[in-house]
Amino acid sequence: MTLYQNIIILTGAGISAESGLATFRNKGGIWKKYDLMKLATPEAFASNPDLVHEFYNARRSGLKKVNPNAAHYALARLDEKYPGNITLITQNVDPLHERAGSRNLLHMHGELNKARCVSCHSICPWFNDLFSQSICPGCGKAGNMRPHIVWFGEIPFHIEQINIRLAQCDLFISIGTSGNVYPAAGFVQAAQDFGAETVELNLEPTDSRNLFSVAHYGKATEIVPEYVADLIRQE
Ligand code: APR
Repeated sequence: MTLYQNIIILTGAGISAESGLATFRNKGGIWKKYDLMKLATPEAFASNPDLVHEFYNARRSGLKKVNPNAAHYALARLDEKYPGNITLITQNVDPLHERAGSRNLLHMHGELNKARCVSCHSICPWFNDLFSQSICPGCGKAGNMRPHIVWFGEIPFHIEQINIRLAQCDLFISIGTSGNVYPAAGFVQAAQDFGAETVELNLEPTDSRNLFSVAHYGKATEIVPEYVADLIRQE
């Protein structure tokens, strides 16, 4: 009968796979089809902004056709019912956790439905196509808008807050991430060092499997609701 005080949940592309959004490194994944060096770095954007805008415009418009799945809703239920503090850190840039009702959400790699002005730094909701000549709603200037996405080589968002939470957490749950990309991939080691119980919920074991004290493998829409129901029953 363990009641956890501070739970951290880290999600990756695998939690949105059954909603119809592609993962990155599985068969058919985004980085299997596209060259990330040409689409997801500041240098790529500087040298060919139209190509980068086209790539993110296609992914942004794809969001209109997908919905949260049972795993997203299970996490929203945990957020609502569990007495301990829950911080949901997602590497995903889709809005499915919000649409399922999760609050206290940190998008450490940014969001497809936001755009940022590199001139006045305003961050604006953006649901349609973004172009080099798009006008910033903040300063009214054109030519300075970029996707509000963290590219390779850039520093993810909310890292200070995440490190503070990791030092306090007593349960760390990793869902649908291959644990390939740092700093997110290092969170489980930090949580373990601070004495947290660590849980991996994924389609298959990842390279970090030895860092987890508990693991359940299978589809997120099956294993996440089951795990959440157990957690809520335990409290
Ligand atoms: N249920 C559970 N897990 C799944 C499912 C599913 N239906 N489908 C796939 N997975 C698992 C895969 O086994 C894999 O371990 O989800 C994981 C997805 O791994 P990646 O494709 O590497 O995605 P992710 O870990 O989120 O990538 C991290 O890399 O490119 C950057 O910024 C990008 O946020 C992304 C980061």
